[in-house]
Amino acid sequence: MTAASDLKIELGRRYRFAASHRLHSAQLSDAENARIYGKCNNACGHGHNYVVEVSVSGDVDPATGMIANLADLDSFVQREILEPFDHRSLNDEVDAFRAEVPTTENLCIEIYRRLRAFPHAKLERVRVEETSNNSFEYAGEEAVSGSDEAH
Ligand code: NI
Repeated sequence: MTAASDLKIELGRRYRFAASHRLHSAQLSDAENARIYGKCNNACGHGHNYVVEVSVSGDVDPATGMIANLADLDSFVQREILEPFDHRSLNDEVDAFRAEVPTTENLCIEIYRRLRAFPHAKLERVRVEETSNNSFEYAGEEAVSGSDEAH
């Protein structure tokens, strides 16, 4: 019989926040920015209702029957993501995006970096939906290790 503590399972939880951004790279000329980003380069920015899906894994605690307490995950995400990002300008109010373009790719990586420190379970991946048509997923750098043989 398998002990409950050997049962690895994944937990997914969704969060939502609204934020504005402007896609503009300091490494490109104004003309290139306008050509590449189109209306997303408009000077005053625009907003999105972002959906963030956080996946964590861990052993089922035999005493509680849970990997981690949802209340712990919620308060961690609240502090690390929702408070600093919700109803903010990503370009102007989030330090990481003073130097990096706040595309959803970079936003997804930044959210992953912030949530990696969750102490009660292992962060598996972060998925960010910018619109109902666009989503990005990041699972950290570990996922690519072990592929060296192929090169
Ligand atoms: Ni946008």
